Amino acid sequence: MRTLVVVLLVMMTGHYASGDTNLPPTPRPQPTALSLLPRPQVVHVTDSEDFERVGILSSSCQGRVFLVDDPALLLTYANKRESSWDYSGRQVVVGLTKEQLKDLTLTKSGRKTQHIVGVVKSGLLGTLWQVYRNQLYTGEEVINVGTWQQNRFTRKRDLFPDKLANLHGAVLKVALFHYIPAVFIERTGNDSIVHHYGRDVDIIKVLSSILNFTIEILAVPSDELWGERLDNGSYNGMIGFLGRDEADMGSGNLYMSSHLGRLNHMTYTTSTFTDSSCFMSWVEPPLPRWQSLALPYQLETWLALLGELLLCSPFLYILAKTTSMRGEEELSNFQSVTYSSLYVFGMHFRQPQGQLPIRINTQIFLAFLWLYAIIITTGYSCNLTAFLTVTRDPPRIETIKELHESKLPVFGLGDYFKLSMLQSVNKHVRGLADKYVAVFDVSTIDRNILHGKGVGIQGYSYMKYVIKKDYTSASGRARMRILKECFASHAITVGLQRHSPLKRKFDKVIRWMVEGGLIDQWFLESVDLSIQIEKRKKKAQGIGDSKAEDMSTAGSEGVIPLGLDHMQGIFLILIICCIISILVFMAEFMLVERNRS
Ligand SMILES: *[C@@H]1O[C@H](CO)[C@@H](O)[C@H](O)[C@H]1NC(C)=O
Ligand SMILES: *[C@@H]1O[C@H](CO)[C@@H](O)[C@H](O)[C@H]1NC(C)=O
Ligand SMILES: *[C@@H]1O[C@H](CO)[C@@H](O)[C@H](O)[C@H]1NC(C)=O
Repeated sequence: MRTLVVVLLVMMTGHYASGDTNLPPTPRPQPTALSLLPRPQVVHVTDSEDFERVGILSSSCQGRVFLVDDPALLLTYANKRESSWDYSGRQVVVGLTKEQLKDLTLTKSGRKTQHIVGVVKSGLLGTLWQVYRNQLYTGEEVINVGTWQQNRFTRKRDLFPDKLANLHGAVLKVALFHYIPAVFIERTGNDSIVHHYGRDVDIIKVLSSILNFTIEILAVPSDELWGERLDNGSYNGMIGFLGRDEADMGSGNLYMSSHLGRLNHMTYTTSTFTDSSCFMSWVEPPLPRWQSLALPYQLETWLALLGELLLCSPFLYILAKTTSMRGEEELSNFQSVTYSSLYVFGMHFRQPQGQLPIRINTQIFLAFLWLYAIIITTGYSCNLTAFLTVTRDPPRIETIKELHESKLPVFGLGDYFKLSMLQSVNKHVRGLADKYVAVFDVSTIDRNILHGKGVGIQGYSYMKYVIKKDYTSASGRARMRILKECFASHAITVGLQRHSPLKRKFDKVIRWMVEGGLIDQWFLESVDLSIQIEKRKKKAQGIGDSKAEDMSTAGSEGVIPLGLDHMQGIFLILIICCIISILVFMAEFMLVERNRS
């Protein structure tokens, strides 16, 4: 029977070693070489079931020795049984040819295994063995590291060197897409990438210079982004590239998450940055300016004023009338209702009054009315200046509760946020999931937000950047805003292939970067750089823009002259009054005509 014998090296004093009866009876291995191994366990493998046992038993092992009778069995194992393969331990394979050993290192699991050493029989006598090891990322060929003869090495180099500390310029593929402000990809007209930078690209670039690898960029299609799960269980987008082992790493504001079995397709490094996902809404247009004439006083004050006017005019008339009825003379003008009303009305507009009443009681009344009018009008005019210059905003949505109660839909990239919302314990957040609309490009989201048709959900740093760059006028007025309450915070990481040997090295280097505060610094630098590039592009397109900018910034230097916009209320009143007086004139004219006829 063709078999494969796997010898497991148990690191701890495992109870399997001391005669566990579950194990099949095994022939004693060759006493010479294998007796050098500390605490070996031996498993006979004849079919795929046995591989599972190898996986379970070897979880505490530092390495495995394969004594191969049937190479096909081992190759199948390495291709199909990814989860029970040991990626970080030392694997020694005895009994393959050099070609078969190379095939093993190129299998799905073999490619990700740090240490594979093959012992290949050579020479006619059968006592000379050549020892080869894999190169991992630096090359596909196995390289000779020694010769074993008569139970000892005649020539030997390091069998298990650290292959990841220096990758010697090996090409690693990075799946990227343009996602500001984490990744900027500049393209020429014919779509070839000329320049890539940004926080997440800088992280990869520094990893590449420390570990000495070369970056090759794989552009993720712009309508797939991080990737969605397809009906057959596979992913497209960046996760798809990693899952199919086409890219070695993926980067671009990637949230650490295990949504929809992502971890069956990829793995994550340690976190590089923390970002929150928040809601972005349009800035509702301010309340119309004509209302500002009424704003200096509250509604109650206005009502009191009106009441005072309605009471004082007849009061003056009655006072003058009763005085003259008692025989004391008062000016005849004050004995008319219209004149008294107009007189009191005029006082409220600081109108100089030609005539004064002659009786003491009317005079006292008017003196106090003057005092009243001067205070009321001063209060109004002082406040008015302030209200003319400021704009007032309508009540705004700021919390998730208010957002849920409004009818606005939530636009987001892909289904990720919808699924996170559905898992929330907060009923308002769950309610948002019903109004969630998944789209696949950022410009659709922005368009809907700008027209007030909904809110968008995105990373906080993205929104801050975009609002500053694209949606703020030169005078500093933003057309979009971020709601005060955010949805959740996320750890951002670099994505790797499942079982990638790079993970441990990457984690270590990324921790250095985070501890040094470098990532935040790169973020600021890349944002500055992008703004400079944007400016340069605008300049190349034409100088028109900079002129417009100068014009509109002139007004923002402290003093604001009042424009027609500020004063629209009073013009409105003038026009309405003109119309009323014309109507009254026409009414009078018609009455006179009728009386004549
Ligand atoms: C990085 O790899 C290149 C290409 O093999 C090599 O020339 C260079 O010396 C390496 N750098 C370091 C620091 O080892
Ligand atoms: C794109 O244009 C650049 C130069 O403008 C050229 O070097 C490159 O080969 C072109 N790429 C393609 C795919 O045509
Ligand atoms: C899943 O479907 C996509 C297209 O719908 C296809 O490209 C891919 O190869 C399929 N994957 C598997 C594992 O069948």
